[in-house]
Amino acid sequence: MRRRHLLLFAAGLLLAASCNSPKTTTGKTLSFPKVDSLLKVMTLEEKIGQMVLLTSDWSVTGPSIREGYLEDIRRGRCGNIFNAYTADYTRKMQEIAVNETRLGIPLLFGYDVIHGFRTIFPVNLGISCSWDIDAVRESAVIAAREAAAAGLHWTYSPMCDISVEPRWGRISEGAGEDPYLGSLIAAAMTEGYQGKDLSDPLTLLACVKHYAAYGAPQAGRDYNTVDMSERWLREFYLPPYKAAIDAGALSVMASFNELDGVPATANKHLMQDILRDEWGFQGFVVTDYTGINEMVCHGYAEDEADAGRLAVNAGIDMDMQSASFLNYLKEQVESGEVSMKTVDDAVRRILNVKAALGLFDDPYRYCSPEREKELTLTEENLRFARKLSAESMVLLKNDGVLPLKTEGKIAVIGALADSADDLLGSWRGAGEVQHIPRTILGAIREKVGEKNVIYARGCDELSDDRSGFAGAIAAAILAKQVVMVIGEDCQWTGEAASRTSIKVPGVQTELLRRIAALGKPVTVVLMNGRPLDLSEESELAGAILEAWYPGTMGGYAVADVLFGDVNPSGRLSVTFPRNLGQVPLYHYAKNTGRPYVHPEAKYESRYLDSPNTPLYPFGYGLSYTSFDYSPVALSADSFTGDSGITAAVTVTNKGPREGTETVQMYIRDLVGSVTRPVRQLKGFERITLAPGEARTVEFYIDAETLSFYRQDMTWGAEPGGFNVWIGPDSSTGNVAGFSYR
Ligand code: NOJ
Repeated sequence: MRRRHLLLFAAGLLLAASCNSPKTTTGKTLSFPKVDSLLKVMTLEEKIGQMVLLTSDWSVTGPSIREGYLEDIRRGRCGNIFNAYTADYTRKMQEIAVNETRLGIPLLFGYDVIHGFRTIFPVNLGISCSWDIDAVRESAVIAAREAAAAGLHWTYSPMCDISVEPRWGRISEGAGEDPYLGSLIAAAMTEGYQGKDLSDPLTLLACVKHYAAYGAPQAGRDYNTVDMSERWLREFYLPPYKAAIDAGALSVMASFNELDGVPATANKHLMQDILRDEWGFQGFVVTDYTGINEMVCHGYAEDEADAGRLAVNAGIDMDMQSASFLNYLKEQVESGEVSMKTVDDAVRRILNVKAALGLFDDPYRYCSPEREKELTLTEENLRFARKLSAESMVLLKNDGVLPLKTEGKIAVIGALADSADDLLGSWRGAGEVQHIPRTILGAIREKVGEKNVIYARGCDELSDDRSGFAGAIAAAILAKQVVMVIGEDCQWTGEAASRTSIKVPGVQTELLRRIAALGKPVTVVLMNGRPLDLSEESELAGAILEAWYPGTMGGYAVADVLFGDVNPSGRLSVTFPRNLGQVPLYHYAKNTGRPYVHPEAKYESRYLDSPNTPLYPFGYGLSYTSFDYSPVALSADSFTGDSGITAAVTVTNKGPREGTETVQMYIRDLVGSVTRPVRQLKGFERITLAPGEARTVEFYIDAETLSFYRQDMTWGAEPGGFNVWIGPDSSTGNVAGFSYR
């Protein structure tokens, strides 16, 4: 991966793309004569219909408040449908829109294709731990291909919400805590979904969500209040949304939360000032579900009509599921509360996207039962899923227990070990358990032979039923090695799945304690969607493999890593704290005026009952081989203006087998007009080295790398001294100093 290229993604938000000529992924400005001519003949009701998005309730992803969507389509009251798929069913609905409405404007079909459609990849937090941007892009290409073949046009992804909040269940849907990595992933997913040409029937329209800062709910409770400074918002939260838009995303979903007292759904600063005026976004903005109605509960709107008026006037183009536009917008236009221009602008944006998708040329281009059959769950897709799944796993601890030996009996313990359902995680698209070839248990059995595996359920993830403990202990006694699969029920992560504890739930850790006391080599495999407090597990287990919810091929992928067929290479994209009391804990923290440096000091920034440091830092992950880093070599120790320097290390594979290392560069600006993080990720490169092989990895540093929102909120670098670390994670690495003049 080229560093210069990477650095562009971290570019300042105030260096927004020219607003004069926003481009589609095809490089053309969005404008279609067909749309202009339609707008001239559409009635107000027909225009409003295009601004309405209703669920088919084929899948349920939120509260249902309306029935009879087919009749709504027929009467031109609904121009867009979500939660319905298959080439057949979408064709039936499309026929109603095309043949039975006056203007025959095709429907747009949306769905939550979040980490795969039929072939399910690991949950997104897991995928982000691969740090493999090409693989991330490829996962979106495959998801788009499968979903588009099932009649879909539009995915509600990428989810670009930065989060440092492990209590929040939706941290599993994003790319973790870091804006730099998050931006690369957001852009790659957008490119993967949309391809080079949106009208290609193998691609999907991307939707950047949840705009904005949904990942920072107070106390980690889903949908809760968000409040942060504009500076923090712009520096740490907005970059991934912006990166996806720069990559060509043509739709954005407003978030449920309020920001600075104004719900995102009616937040002009977000929709107009930043999104459209600064970033030049020319696609359309959709609400998140009943986000409009919810403004009544927020205490921001008097009633649903008022809420709709506030939303449309703030820049919302499409109303998902609240029916506020459907019920009240006509009257509001007639009374002058909403201008005709506002409605026309919204409809133009929506129809432009329909035109870009090629729907006016052929409304049925995405409904092909043949393609659906041919492109779904192919061997190639499943092979890729297995690879990505293994790449997403992070080896957190290994005292030599892994890779597992293939001789001798293995006790496999835990309900999750044999759960196909949990492999899929939350937001599993159209993924089905019947397409999972093996659970973790099944894959281990296949690997070493059924007679060599003793399975005991032990306990499940949530209950406090200990009746299976004796059986699990007996199994462990009979075995040479133990694999315990523990974690969270997959419904305990995702939307509306916040927790006040981040410990492994139920009595799983208690059982681990009992098993560990037997003195056998114990490997813990974790299935979960958030950073957990593993302080006790990390003491008890000989090895810990974070497998997340690894997807359709996750059973095989876990076995691939456990037995060493694949050398683990995942690195944490989010910090694992020691305990919940440390939250929020993230690698780009600042120093404070009293940093903790003296072990016994009282008046320094510390806890009395816990170290400040995480259990597992951002960027961390082990391998079955080991890598050695040379000191950092700078091409010069200072630079000015438009020039730059390189920082390089030589990395050597010191171990016995080939391995992939993610070489990471972090920077600190020592003195700024506003305080700066002690370390901030500014570059990385994944390299694969044979045993004994050495490679020099070089990062380019220029003013853009050092830029931030200065005190006056302009984006740029400030002269002065800097440190650069290059190493295997955010807490170690070799350091060098340089200056920028
Ligand atoms: C609500 C969720 O917040 C959002 O992510 C999803 O895309 C919509 N529901 C539609 O299902």
